[in-house]
Amino acid sequence: MKKIIVTGCNGQLGRAINKELAGNAELEFVNTDVGELDITNIDKVMALAREVKPYAIINCAAHTAVDACETDVDNAYRINAIGPRNLSIAATETGAKMIHVSTDYVFDGKGTRPYLEFDTPNPQGIYGASKLVGENMVKDFADRYFILRTAWLYGDGKNFAKTMLRLSETHDKVRVVNDQFGSPTSTKELAAAIAQLLFTENYGLFHATCEGSCHWAEFAQEIFRLAGKATQVEGISTAEYGAAAPRPAYSILENYMLKLTGGYQFADWHDAIEEYIKTL
Ligand SMILES: NC(=O)c1ccc[n+]([C@@H]2O[C@H](COP(=O)([O-])OP(=O)(O)OC[C@H]3O[C@@H](n4cnc5c(N)ncnc54)[C@H](OP(=O)(O)O)[C@@H]3O)[C@@H](O)[C@H]2O)c1
Repeated sequence: MKKIIVTGCNGQLGRAINKELAGNAELEFVNTDVGELDITNIDKVMALAREVKPYAIINCAAHTAVDACETDVDNAYRINAIGPRNLSIAATETGAKMIHVSTDYVFDGKGTRPYLEFDTPNPQGIYGASKLVGENMVKDFADRYFILRTAWLYGDGKNFAKTMLRLSETHDKVRVVNDQFGSPTSTKELAAAIAQLLFTENYGLFHATCEGSCHWAEFAQEIFRLAGKATQVEGISTAEYGAAAPRPAYSILENYMLKLTGGYQFADWHDAIEEYIKTL
């Protein structure tokens, strides 16, 4: 029996990982969220890892509130950087594989073609900066790791698609930014990619997003179309929207490492969101 410690199990990705791997009788899950295992606490992380002796640790915990990170700086670094450091130290000591998830927001968005894993990050906000330190902590402290950079996630939890559908109940028109480009990605697709890597030695840093790209207003339009909503989308600029944290204008990732190594082929974002809307 292979034991898997999942952190942040109540989040979108934590739930999707459990669903994706539920049918695998070889696996036993030790599911934890902040109540059972606060990943910022090295002593608790080490104690659990020593007790469980996991095959792998899948870190789904993060401080994902991008705007809040700008003012909640210490917690952002604690959760997004020290947390993965602690888990990586525990993984190395117990011989476990370390699976960590990062973000397209490590890039500054000034690129003109999809970012490769070999491009140099340059985060613009605290969330992206803290996630980049987290990546480096994993590289420094884990012997055998998979880092998957993903983007614009939606699944079982709070996300953009659900916000749009909620707004459509009370609004005939919504204003959505149309000058930030990225790749909406379902947690189901990301969990499938993780499940495929998990039993391999294909270690390293991977971009892991659905194929294709759009801007947020286009994504909103597609959500309304698929859900049969008449709500109109008015495109506005990032400056007009005025969020607290800077966001990359262009953060399309090429899943280059997965392609080079014969790894998981992500669905096109249109197909993934269509499947998701049907499940709601
Ligand atoms: N969401 C996106 O659009 C997006 C985009 C790119 C990359 N990512 C990355 O993808 C990963 C999964 O994101 P997600 O959307 O599934 O996140 P999520 O839904 O926000 O879930 C994160 C989980 O971690 C928990 N958590 C927070 N602090 C913790 C701590 N100190 N110890 C243990 N658990 C803690 C949270 O609990 P509380 O809810 O109680 O805080 C929550 O259950 C993250 O690494 C994220 O950075 C996400």
